[in-house]
Amino acid sequence: MATKIAVLSQKGGTGKTTAVRTLTDVMRLAGLKVLAVDLDPQGNLSDYFDVDPQADPTIGDVLAGRASAKQAVHDDLMPANLTLAEAELTLAGKMGRELTLRKALFYDNEHGVLATNDDKAELLIESSIFGRAPKVVGGLHHLLNIGRIGKLSITGSRFQQGFEGHLIRSRAREAVISYNFIHDGVRGGASYEIELAAGGLATVIGNVIGQGVDGQNPVLLAYGTEGRAWDRNELYVAHNTFVHYGWLPAWFMRVFDDRVGADTKVFAVNNLLVGPGVFWLAASGDFAGNRHATRGMLQDIWTNGLELPPGAMWRGSGVDPKRINGRDLSPKAEFEWPVGTRAIAPLTNWTPGAYQR
Ligand SMILES: Nc1ncnc2c1ncn2[C@@H]1O[C@H](COP(=O)(O)OP(=O)(O)OP(=O)(O)O)[C@@H](O)[C@H]1O
Ligand SMILES: [Mg+2]
Repeated sequence: MATKIAVLSQKGGTGKTTAVRTLTDVMRLAGLKVLAVDLDPQGNLSDYFDVDPQADPTIGDVLAGRASAKQAVHDDLMPANLTLAEAELTLAGKMGRELTLRKALFYDNEHGVLATNDDKAELLIESSIFGRAPKVVGGLHHLLNIGRIGKLSITGSRFQQGFEGHLIRSRAREAVISYNFIHDGVRGGASYEIELAAGGLATVIGNVIGQGVDGQNPVLLAYGTEGRAWDRNELYVAHNTFVHYGWLPAWFMRVFDDRVGADTKVFAVNNLLVGPGVFWLAASGDFAGNRHATRGMLQDIWTNGLELPPGAMWRGSGVDPKRINGRDLSPKAEFEWPVGTRAIAPLTNWTPGAYQR
């Protein structure tokens, strides 16, 4: 019967290797047959037992599936070398490519989070703040820069003070952006507030999306700027409050269906569009319950009182957001300062925009 003994500790220099080599020596002296396995890419145990540094294959090859365990045994020892570090990276990818960020603060970063192109990867961002892009002219720093991953979800978070780059850029296959405060600030100088560059299945619901007077681009929400990367291209935009502080007209939502494909489906319901501008131009889709408002119609636009006050025009004027192309687009929550969300009870009369209070 075989017995396995593992010696591990996260902290370095705590005597792991020494314990293993001593146990091995002692048990061998006692007449037991012992296989020592080095699981550290530094290979200290392999050195101690004088295994040829060129020995091949090693434990790294076994874990990467290139060799059997038996082939990697050399003089009753399974050695390790730097190929083990490679195998660890591969295994980490197999075990779980989901990352959750909760209550994280990213300030003055070149790209708050820069995600690779891995369609198995998923990123969830909750109750976090991304702000104050470095003021590097031509640097194009986005507050969040997400590659072609499987799914990006952002909720209860704040994005502010961009500079030339975008507040949120994603190429994910699926994006769910809900109940956030994506607001560059009155003097903000970002480009797009949200760029869903590669199209995909995108749900943008219950957000405040604000563009400042120094914005680099009249568009607040851009979809499909880089063309088509995924088979399913549908954009659902519901109950967002878009606010534009500039004096030139904004283009609140721009769908590049000439780039992402004419079969792109766009559904936009109960959005509130504040300040001069057009919601969409030249894109086809299903639009209902969207309303334009002046900045003066909101509670107090200069102190982020971005709700329609009681008795204001458009209150309760939304359409039923519960069955839009088979999907329920009614907001279940709204952004709550300073970060997070608070629940919204189901309503019969919906008000356009992010706030039902
Ligand atoms: N029981 C002990 N008493 C005194 N010194 C010890 C003891 N065990 C280990 N050491 C010494 O502590 C140092 C670190 O030990 P060792 O290399 O075994 O740690 P380790 O946990 O394997 O380190 P690493 O994280 O670098 O792999 C060595 O110099 C070793 O000789
Ligand atoms: Mg060691």
